[in-house]
Amino acid sequence: MASPAAGGVVIVGSGLIGRSWAMLFASGGFKVKLYDIEQQQITNALENIRKEMKLMEQSGALKGSLSAQQQLALISGCGNLAEAVEGAMHIQECVPENLELKKKIFTHLDSIVDDSVILSSSTSCLLPSKLFGGLTHVKQCIVAHPVNPPYYVPLVELVPHPETAPTTMDRTHALMRKIGQSPVRVLKEIDGFVLNRLQYAIISEAWRLVEEGIVSPNDLDLVMSDGLGMRYAFIGPLETMHLNAEGMVSYCDRYSEGMKHVLNSFGSVPEFSGATVEKVNQDICMKVPDDPVHLAARRQWRDDCLMRLAKLKRQVQPQ
Ligand code: NAI
Repeated sequence: MASPAAGGVVIVGSGLIGRSWAMLFASGGFKVKLYDIEQQQITNALENIRKEMKLMEQSGALKGSLSAQQQLALISGCGNLAEAVEGAMHIQECVPENLELKKKIFTHLDSIVDDSVILSSSTSCLLPSKLFGGLTHVKQCIVAHPVNPPYYVPLVELVPHPETAPTTMDRTHALMRKIGQSPVRVLKEIDGFVLNRLQYAIISEAWRLVEEGIVSPNDLDLVMSDGLGMRYAFIGPLETMHLNAEGMVSYCDRYSEGMKHVLNSFGSVPEFSGATVEKVNQDICMKVPDDPVHLAARRQWRDDCLMRLAKLKRQVQPQ
């Protein structure tokens, strides 16, 4: 829970990700101000959050120790950015993924904030050096990249600008822990951060295996959902190595030659175009047609599964 003296949080951009952040910060007891360039987006966000929180409370999925009513009372809209940021301790930018737009927002924020607030971006792939270069308050800037849907998938990648102060990283890390998220420190900026680099490595080999006719698209997905993914929900690839032998050293002794043999047979970066797109699309659309109704229903099912998995992960947390 936030202490009553703690400053509040400002969300800049009240779309999909801004709304999720607002709910997460409120679940940790923080006051949240939602700002957007479109007043209607703020109105929609407040209404949407109210409905979501009530539903979550009914289903037992609401985070934090406060009731939905108490959490809702912490969130308000604000149509004036300078007013919104007054006295704030953390500003989370959530505008569309466009470098020029984000730079404009951060330049504006740079001119109206004090020396203590954290300026954080939700960007999925823009590098901090591109976003924050030249800002007076660059020491207070950081990327905090969430994973969709952030309410059920707790990971947040924290990525510093080369000039970000260590205290900015530490404060943001502590804040994320306070609201029940699982922050990781990316020590140096790199394209794709860590999550998307791992994700693209998997997508890339998945694509090549289908392209080369080794496995069908649906069976490829099963290898992940009914195979690797089962344990990856609880332990990562490095701990998997450790447990799959008598520890890490034993794993490397036993399997390094075999791993290198397979890794050396990997192909080049796929084009993601042409006949393979058609083949993959055809198979996937048999399972999930790509019209808005079927896609929305499948996303809802995915989010329900993630909500249950999040509950399970909380129950099985090692002491
Ligand atoms: P969105 O399109 O749902 O929402 C963006 C909001 O920003 C809209 O409400 C829009 O009115 C507002 N906006 C536009 N210009 C503005 C301005 N000048 N000042 C204030 N508000 C402004 O976008 P979404 O999906 O929420 O994405 C936001 C950020 O989060 C992006 O950087 C995206 O890459 C990142 N992100 C998105 C994920 C996703 O799955 N959607 C996952 C992780 C990160």
